Amino acid sequence: MHKLAFLRIKETVVEGKGFKTLRFMFNRKVRPGQFVMVWIPGVDEIPMSLSYLGRIKGITIREVGESTKILGSLKVGDSMAIRGPFGRGFERLSGKTLLVCGGAGAAAVLPIAEEMDNRERVDIAIGARTKDELIFEERSKMYSDNVRTSTDDGSEGCEGTVVDLAKHMMKERKYDFLQACGPESMLSSLLKVGKEHGVSGQFSLERFMRCGVGICGSCVINGKRVCTDGPVFWGEELESMSDFGRSKRDESGQKIGL
Ligand SMILES: Cc1cc2nc3c(=O)[nH]c(=O)nc-3n(C[C@H](O)[C@H](O)[C@H](O)COP(=O)(O)OP(=O)(O)OC[C@H]3O[C@@H](n4cnc5c(N)ncnc54)[C@H](O)[C@@H]3O)c2cc1C
Ligand code: FES
Repeated sequence: MHKLAFLRIKETVVEGKGFKTLRFMFNRKVRPGQFVMVWIPGVDEIPMSLSYLGRIKGITIREVGESTKILGSLKVGDSMAIRGPFGRGFERLSGKTLLVCGGAGAAAVLPIAEEMDNRERVDIAIGARTKDELIFEERSKMYSDNVRTSTDDGSEGCEGTVVDLAKHMMKERKYDFLQACGPESMLSSLLKVGKEHGVSGQFSLERFMRCGVGICGSCVINGKRVCTDGPVFWGEELESMSDFGRSKRDESGQKIGL
């Protein structure tokens, strides 16, 4: 198990409404899609994808509750503590790939574009509820010539969900793979749409996590521990999981509908 690493924040970036990136030195090898457990003393320890994997790593936080609001208030020079990296990340695939980012899911997906050496092999679809919540659009354009956006309210890009956008892009071009992260209902729809177009892919799940290393069982889905067997799964694996896209476990371990 990785020891707790104490880090000092070198840079903060407001990425969009309610989104902030914290950058720090973290000298460990990380795959796109892997995550760290971030310790918020006296409050909680929560999973966060690493959104930047270069020499200066980063996490990108969507402020939704107590822990993420505390992280979002940290400033340059403040310290933080993390364990990791954990989990099975995205594979480096050879073929034409469509990256699909739903909301904060862009944090897990964008590093894939950065490690690809050919901008013609990667197209990117980024979706959010509204224009202010779209993140990483400019960053994506550094790695792809075909970056498209969607918003639920039509305030930027295509009006509709990022799955509608991905479907449209799959009609226009032939892709070999999809790689995606976002809310599970979105991933479940995307998996179906991908199948209709004969495109298989990898999908990163967000489940409630406590230990992050396969011990507590909080994150289990149909016998698989998302923290160690995932968070990235192939579509074919997810199709055999009856809870995928239907139910999850809450903090008490109770199964609830998505
Ligand atoms: C592998 C993984 C990677 C993630 N990466 C990111 C990321 O890059 N950026 C980002 O903004 N968010 C990410 N999340 C989600 C993030 O962990 C939750 O938003 C955060 O834990 C919420 O904590 P809170 O106290 O602010 O909110 P709360 O009010 O406690 O909860 C808000 C929501 O977050 C969920 N949540 C709460 N605690 C956890 C937990 N321990 N594990 C999983 N979900 C939890 C709850 O189910 C609830 O729906 C990731 C989750 C997982 C599992
Ligand atoms: S979070 Fe404990 S087993 Fe996955």
